[in-house]
Amino acid sequence: MRVVITGSNRGIGLELVRHFLQRGENVHALCRHSSSELDALASSRNLAILQGVDVSSPDASHRVLNHLDDAGIDILVQNAGILEREAKLAPSVESIRDQLEVNAIGPILLTLGLLPRLSAGSKVMFLTSRMGSIADNSSGGYFGYRMSKAALNAGAVSLARDLAPQGIPVGIVHPGYVQTSMTGGHGDIDAATAAKQIIERIDQLSMERSGRFFHSNGGELPW
Ligand SMILES: NC(=O)c1ccc[n+]([C@@H]2O[C@H](COP(=O)([O-])OP(=O)(O)OC[C@H]3O[C@@H](n4cnc5c(N)ncnc54)[C@H](OP(=O)(O)O)[C@@H]3O)[C@@H](O)[C@H]2O)c1
Repeated sequence: MRVVITGSNRGIGLELVRHFLQRGENVHALCRHSSSELDALASSRNLAILQGVDVSSPDASHRVLNHLDDAGIDILVQNAGILEREAKLAPSVESIRDQLEVNAIGPILLTLGLLPRLSAGSKVMFLTSRMGSIADNSSGGYFGYRMSKAALNAGAVSLARDLAPQGIPVGIVHPGYVQTSMTGGHGDIDAATAAKQIIERIDQLSMERSGRFFHSNGGELPW
């Protein structure tokens, strides 16, 4: 199977690359810049690294399409994301805009741009956050991050509806509270555990589960 993963140089994305390679899949690791950890996996015949893919760039899909030639995508994982700290009750416009571009607009437009390489049986999985859940928001703050992940969820559900006739399911998964640089190393689980659970959710993804919001541990989350 051909698997394409954004934000693959570190964190959860890097562990997704590692797990899919261990399963023998062909992995196309997209990133802005590679890392020593990702380079260390490059001895695998099954790994192709494509640098210079900023998901917020309008050129991103063209760059990926050129790299893939006519080859189809079996699994597309939109993993790249940012979380910016905000002063209490004083988020900057730039911070909110950046998070909307990277976390919501970019992944949706990149997926639309890659539709020529998706077909019946292909799967799309978006890495969202339960911080984008309006029902689950009991602590406030994080305006830009919460708004961006809620927007991503809305776009992903539209994609799920629009791609249903083509037989392409769209998954929406919260990885858990994961020890990566995004959380300053804090979290309930490490990135390898999160990647394993996310891949279980990808394996489980079906047309019936398309457009629904799951925790990587398998539980369904409220919008
Ligand atoms: N960790 C958690 O507890 C947690 C919880 C809920 C949801 N998530 C979500 O899980 C996903 C992965 O997060 P993580 O914890 O692995 O974070 P991370 O360690 O900070 O990694 C983020 C990844 O996204 C990439 N990225 C950032 N901006 C990008 C852009 N404009 N274009 C392309 N790539 C970009 C980064 O690449 P660079 O090195 O180039 O910056 C990096 O590879 C994100 O969508 C995040 O929102 C994480």
